[in-house]
Amino acid sequence: MDTSTTIGIIGSGAMGAGIAQVAATAGHTVIVYDNSQAALDKAKSNLDSTLKKLVEKQKITDVNATEIHDRTQFVNDLNAFKNCGLIIEAIVENIDVKQKLFADLESIVSSDCILASNTSSLSIASIASACRAAERVIGIHFFNPAPVMPLVEIIPGILTDAEVVKNSRTLIDAWGKVTVLTKDTPGFIVNRVARSFYGESIRIYEEGIADFATIDWALKTYGGFKMGPFELMDFIGNDINYKVTESVWTQFFYESRFKPSLTQKRLYEAKLFGRKSGRGYYNYAEGAVMPEPKKNADIGNYIFNRVISMLINEAVDSFYLKLATKEDLDLAMTKGVNYPKGLLKWADDVGLANVLDTLGVLHNLYEEERYRPSLLMKLMVKDGKKFY
Ligand SMILES: NC(=O)c1ccc[n+]([C@@H]2O[C@H](COP(=O)([O-])OP(=O)(O)OC[C@H]3O[C@@H](n4cnc5c(N)ncnc54)[C@H](O)[C@@H]3O)[C@@H](O)[C@H]2O)c1
Repeated sequence: MDTSTTIGIIGSGAMGAGIAQVAATAGHTVIVYDNSQAALDKAKSNLDSTLKKLVEKQKITDVNATEIHDRTQFVNDLNAFKNCGLIIEAIVENIDVKQKLFADLESIVSSDCILASNTSSLSIASIASACRAAERVIGIHFFNPAPVMPLVEIIPGILTDAEVVKNSRTLIDAWGKVTVLTKDTPGFIVNRVARSFYGESIRIYEEGIADFATIDWALKTYGGFKMGPFELMDFIGNDINYKVTESVWTQFFYESRFKPSLTQKRLYEAKLFGRKSGRGYYNYAEGAVMPEPKKNADIGNYIFNRVISMLINEAVDSFYLKLATKEDLDLAMTKGVNYPKGLLKWADDVGLANVLDTLGVLHNLYEEERYRPSLLMKLMVKDGKKFY
């Protein structure tokens, strides 16, 4: 596939509109469909205002903007997708609706058209099961906002053809994105490995060890994270973050490492979604005073040590279970959620033996499965091995 391939985008919400912009900027003719005319109109006018801003900021020229605009068509009939080489679906996160769409598409497109889903939490195997040719179905998972975030996870389903994987990855690489290849397991890489950044921080708060501001301060100061977990959850939205946590936890058959918290569930139920609703863990109302962290080095180090050990354990276990290569696991966290370094590199830097010690102490103390170390961590410490 090259820029002569027409790209179809289904769903013109936050993700679909962003992906369409990326594909059109890369030089493709892009066809965007949504079953809501209002959503299509909004995406169309948003694209024009985004392009105008990019010209003002001198990121693109006037000519570029006109070309991108002209290459993007907004349609209200799926039959317009007849000549597409790749279709990326970004509609509502509902398996029945997605399956129906994929089944409908198969009767419209040519036999070599790749059908991709941008799903965050559904399995590619289940989406593909609606198609006669499941081998053409793949997960291509962008991050929000798609034009800004470099990472894209490429997720073959159990029946996806190897050529479909290769061609999809090559194409998305050509769009200037950083792709990582991962298995069709809940949360893929980022939404799985990042869970303990939030979950363990909430536990630390629930146990009364520190408040939100102090935990955020500790992880920024001692870990170099750009945002603390509570700031980040408020930024992402506690509705989205809670739902992802719940989905990953249930799909992993209630694995205790991913267990959601009542603290976040109550925020979600009370519609305290974070920045977008004006209040979450913090209050964003005009004139509200942000709480000050209690800057105690012992507490700060304790918090960082506990959270980073849980994050590293998840990355090590993901590597052990062959979710991805070590390079892709590390790239996913630096390019998908802006971590200051990859977690396996981080494991080498802090020393796997130290992480194993921390987990051992927590495991003994709490007697909870949640803190059990990955078998690979134990084996590597025994043999004195490093990742890099
Ligand atoms: N928002 C994120 O941060 C994010 C990140 C990565 C992946 N995703 C995934 O991307 C997908 C879309 O998410 P979003 O945030 O853009 O949602 P959104 O609500 O902003 O947009 C979804 C769009 O799909 C349209 N739609 C719904 N059903 C449809 C149908 N049957 N046919 C055609 N159009 C239909 C809606 O009208 C809406 O415009 C979901 O699968 C989501 O899990 C979201």
